[in-house]
Amino acid sequence: MLIAQAAVAYTGHPQRGAAMTEIHDLASLIRAGHPIILIETAEEPRVVETFRHVIAQVWRPLFHWSLTAGLRRLDMDLEDELAPPEATAALGHARESSQRSIYLLCDFGGYLRFPLAARLLREIAERQQCAAHTMVLIGTQIELPSELENHVVRFALKLPDEAELAKLIRDEAFLYSREHSGKRVEIDSAAMKKIVRNMLGLKLADARRIARQLIFRDGVIDQKDLPEVAKLKFELLNRDGLLHFEYDTAAFADVAGLSRLKRWVEQRRAIFTGETRAAGLDPPKGLLLLGVQGCGKSLAAKAVAGSFGVPLVRLDFGALYNKYHGETEKNLRASLANAEALAPCVLWCDEIEKGLATSDSDDGVSRRVLGYLLTWMAERRKPVFLVATANDVSRLPPELLRKGRFDEIFFVDLPTDAARDEVFRLHFERRDIAWEAFELSALVAATEGFSGAEIEQVIVSALYAAHADNLPLAQRHLLEEIRNTRPLSILMAERVNELREWATSRTVPAD
Ligand SMILES: Nc1ncnc2c1ncn2[C@@H]1O[C@H](COP(=O)(O)OP(=O)(O)OP(=O)(O)O)[C@@H](O)[C@H]1O
Ligand SMILES: [Mg+2]
Repeated sequence: MLIAQAAVAYTGHPQRGAAMTEIHDLASLIRAGHPIILIETAEEPRVVETFRHVIAQVWRPLFHWSLTAGLRRLDMDLEDELAPPEATAALGHARESSQRSIYLLCDFGGYLRFPLAARLLREIAERQQCAAHTMVLIGTQIELPSELENHVVRFALKLPDEAELAKLIRDEAFLYSREHSGKRVEIDSAAMKKIVRNMLGLKLADARRIARQLIFRDGVIDQKDLPEVAKLKFELLNRDGLLHFEYDTAAFADVAGLSRLKRWVEQRRAIFTGETRAAGLDPPKGLLLLGVQGCGKSLAAKAVAGSFGVPLVRLDFGALYNKYHGETEKNLRASLANAEALAPCVLWCDEIEKGLATSDSDDGVSRRVLGYLLTWMAERRKPVFLVATANDVSRLPPELLRKGRFDEIFFVDLPTDAARDEVFRLHFERRDIAWEAFELSALVAATEGFSGAEIEQVIVSALYAAHADNLPLAQRHLLEEIRNTRPLSILMAERVNELREWATSRTVPAD
């Protein structure tokens, strides 16, 4: 493992890569004579800094206005406020000035609701007896009065590229070292590369916040930071909270049976993560797990993420549905976009039938949701692996089951003898119980038709019974609990049989 020492000086200049193009593009807009440039961003200081570089290309006076600082000139060291802090006074200044200039108006959006401010700005934009200024509106969210729309060009800040992100991490490392009496930050270059790749798609300020947290936590950048990046990034992206970050992924070692599913996932791991590339092999896109309740579908979904070694996010399909018209689709779009921003990751839609049930009573919302989901499944470019789980196939829309939607549809049936043996072992081990002390074959025979969840419940109940007797867990406690259990497969034999029959012709057995 290569450890590089961060010793690059902090410069603070954005004159690199994407930032350089940004300066260039803004200068072109100014030269082209656009009267109003609108920049929606939370990164005001960065925009102001960028304009300091822009004027080196266009040579015009640069003014800055905010309600707190009033109007000031930035390209010359003038201490004085040039106009009173009122927004209209700043516009008045522009009207009067005969030299064409650039005015950066920060958080000005709110004032555009006032007729005088809107009118003044329009007159300036239309060059009514004033110089050809460039007015730059900067704010997180700017609502324009319709009469200004025609005069405005919108400018989107570029997202930082890999080189800039790497520089940003080194800058933060430098700052850390300065604050910690010269203590250098150790940077594992392989981890750094992965972190940088993971941060693509983030705004500069957000990336900087994450980099700072990673470094200031322990003074190193290494493999341990990778899950942390995913988590921090997730928190940034998913502020409305329809996706849930699942901190506990599982390993396939925690899942009994499902051998065919395990092999399928294992064979595709390296292609999905991009570790290897092979001609003719498309990256895997997703799985549908259908099956009997309590047999490990949810557990397997978690294990897919564990096996791929990527974060797991769960989409709460039920919560997607919003009572406000049009919000549901918007929620889905935002959630899928967030999942893509977190890629590579596994997106888990648990009990998907609940969110897609085709009912006539919802104005076609669930139809449109399904349509959007199907389009996304077909067209997504980012490595987001979809794992959907469902119990009730009768409520699944047939479009979802059509060939080619999912890479594979697996049926998770009641565990076989061998799988039940494994379930017992796994759950004994998890509770530090030596399974050698039990006659497993008798337990396996007695639990025919039990799901994994039911076997787990037998063990838990037997432990309580033993505890009540003040005795160590014995075979008879287990057999007693097994006798007392009416498994679902018996209680709902018809449903389970129907499901199995349906599955044989349409799915692949997971075990
Ligand atoms: N194959 C299995 N291997 C190990 N444990 C299992 C297995 N199947 C079920 N279990 C145990 O039962 C619990 C519940 O299983 P899980 O939630 O994965 O089932 P499910 O198929 O998703 O059920 P549901 O349809 O009710 O959502 C698991 O957390 C695990 O402890
Ligand atoms: Mg489940």
